[in-house]
Amino acid sequence: MVVSEVQGKVVGMAHLIKGRYDKNSHVGFLGMLIVKGFRSVGVATAMVAYVLEWAKREGLEKISLTTFSTNKIAMSLYRKFGFEVEGTSKNTTSLEKNTSTR
Ligand SMILES: CC(C)(COP(=O)(O)OP(=O)(O)OC[C@H]1O[C@@H](n2cnc3c(N)ncnc32)[C@H](O)[C@@H]1OP(=O)(O)O)[C@@H](O)C(=O)NCCC(=O)NCCS
Repeated sequence: MVVSEVQGKVVGMAHLIKGRYDKNSHVGFLGMLIVKGFRSVGVATAMVAYVLEWAKREGLEKISLTTFSTNKIAMSLYRKFGFEVEGTSKNTTSLEKNTSTR
């Protein structure tokens, strides 16, 4: 996990978890969040660049992630780095039960 700090305060985090089995240990699973108030100023861009460099050094062959297809900003962010949509999953998250800060 990596974090971004501004004046000692954590404003963003990204985690990259290697596949836990031999057969998927070449894949890193990425997730990230930037604190509201610090978004749209390039923090995630800097963090994704950092994480991808780190993944390359670690020998990972693929980075995988999931995001809502309606999350336009995340979609733009990841597309900028060459990520492509491999598939769309339906009814895997209940928005009614969503208690996150998104
Ligand atoms: C998605 C998220 C991580 C983006 O973080 P961020 O620091 O705001 O992103 P950046 O400032 O680096 O912007 C990345 C790209 O997103 C797009 N973007 C950012 N803010 C935008 C806005 N307000 N309107 C439209 N596009 C925007 C742009 O394409 C931008 O690239 P560009 O500046 O080169 O054009 C952040 O909004 C977030 O934490 N959201 C909630 C959690 C989440 O959705 N996580 C991702 C799913 S794993």
